Amino acid sequence: MEGQEISGGLILTQIMVRITRKIEFSAAHLYHNPKFSDEENRRIFGKCNNPHGHGHNYVLEVTVAGDPDPNTGMILDLKELKDILQREIVERMDHRFLNYEVPELANRIPTCENIALVIWDLLEPKITRGHLDRVRLYESPDLYVDCTAGAAANGSAGKGRRSA
Ligand code: NI
Repeated sequence: MEGQEISGGLILTQIMVRITRKIEFSAAHLYHNPKFSDEENRRIFGKCNNPHGHGHNYVLEVTVAGDPDPNTGMILDLKELKDILQREIVERMDHRFLNYEVPELANRIPTCENIALVIWDLLEPKITRGHLDRVRLYESPDLYVDCTAGAAANGSAGKGRRSA
């Protein structure tokens, strides 16, 4: 949040409003990079390289930022957000083997990081009121990844990844 100085030294503070919806899905994955030897895959990915995969109960928190509509008091229609999450994420990923059944992850190691990036790319164009502010994906209660708006603008993490 940044204050904006206007004449007379008065500081206007812009308040950011965010709303978050949480969903859960269960999915299986394995980590294997065909560029590595079998031994390297085992050394780098450990048990996650087990070819039969393993599952997680993922918890996804999706945050949308924006100004509440003066007529509805809402940043966006929460029913619509729920439908988008159901259609784009749950139906695509729940009870799936992510490596083989989710085309968006076909050529990526389906780490929590990459799953969160795919979720960001799926949701971002669907949010038409307000804007997608954060995707937080928990792989377990003590491990999560955040994708946040603006990551691409700083020239590091997001740069060029859409071509992947
Ligand atoms: Ni895992």
